[in-house]
Amino acid sequence: MRIKTIVAAITIIYGTTSPIMAQKTLAEATRGKFLFGVAVNMQQVKGVNPIESDLVAKEFSAIVAENCMKPQPIHPEENKYFWDDADKLVAFGEKNKQVVTGHCLMWHSQIGRWFFVGDSGKTVTPEVLKERMRQHIYEVVGRYKGRVKGWDVVNEAFEDDGTYRKSKFFQILGKDFIKYAFQFAHEADPNAELYYNDYNVEIPAKCDAIVQLVKELKTAGYRIDAVGSQAHMHMDSPTLDETENSFIKLKAAGVKILITEWDISILPSPYSGANISANFKYSKEMDPYRELVPDSVQMKWNKRVLDMFGLFLKYHDVIDRVTIWSLTDNVTWLNNFPIRGRKDYPVLFDRNNQRKSVVEDMIKLAKKH
Ligand code: G3I
Repeated sequence: MRIKTIVAAITIIYGTTSPIMAQKTLAEATRGKFLFGVAVNMQQVKGVNPIESDLVAKEFSAIVAENCMKPQPIHPEENKYFWDDADKLVAFGEKNKQVVTGHCLMWHSQIGRWFFVGDSGKTVTPEVLKERMRQHIYEVVGRYKGRVKGWDVVNEAFEDDGTYRKSKFFQILGKDFIKYAFQFAHEADPNAELYYNDYNVEIPAKCDAIVQLVKELKTAGYRIDAVGSQAHMHMDSPTLDETENSFIKLKAAGVKILITEWDISILPSPYSGANISANFKYSKEMDPYRELVPDSVQMKWNKRVLDMFGLFLKYHDVIDRVTIWSLTDNVTWLNNFPIRGRKDYPVLFDRNNQRKSVVEDMIKLAKKH
């Protein structure tokens, strides 16, 4: 009997072939194009919520720690490391045959205050800070040598206008702190990929500054494999053109691109236009979908996701990984940022751990590329 006849028969009986055809996961649909990852929290790694743990294990080909591998959680005091969570996360990824990447080695946020304070209680000297950076990076990268594919070596070193963020790192060591971080990471694991990671990479001035950094690192002989574009997006920004232009510039700079923290807030942004509310106080109008998301709004969000995903697929020759920043709407950081206590819907699984309808459309779109 011809295959077509069999499939037609199945379709008549089941009304679809999906019960028979194994339902594709995002990881399967994007295989051969780019890794499809998710940021995981420790409740998922430890199985506190087994449904979420199962979804993380099945739907994604890569994982990254949302928090536990950052400087402060993993190295809370100069002579004290907390490895337990990071060890469990790496083991979780290995058990599920997923690629594990490290986030993040040097970041001005979520880093112990001790890092920048000398014995005298004053600001640490450049030499001491450089040595502390080396020790931190050697310890963390060295512990997971050969098990973590690559590291966000430096996170968020630029302002949106392309100037260097005046972080403690920058104030004490100047922009060379970046080179030192990449040098130490490479020394600690010569085979690990090394990334620079930032948000708003779609802003031309910021993208140009990052491209300049890439060129300086490469010219000076430092390894840098990719730039991570966090891709924390809103309904109307960044535009597709702004995003594509950043891809074109980064590709021309000779680095791979990672979409490292993708989410698309469905809520009004307090940053938009002149309407910058004084202190981002909670208000009903800034939290309009507490009960439900109107179909018209959901459809706009779905289209926004698909348009961006289609752009990622268009550039899959240079994009190595797309990572969603949180599994479900329940655990997204955006429920409390930039305004605490809102109800956002920025990721691909809903508050009941169900795939949103857009996921099926993403899988169909991926098949066409
Ligand atoms: O673990 C402690 C807990 O012991 C304590 O009781 C609780 C009290 O508030 O805090 C918990 O730590 C929180 C941590 O998330 C783990 O839940 C921190 O307060 C909270 O600030 C931290 O927020 C994280 C944020 O980075 C910190 O800046 C978010 O989960 C995380 O999604 C977010 O991720 C960042 C990326 O790393 C870098 N790019 C931007 C992105 C969004 O800010």
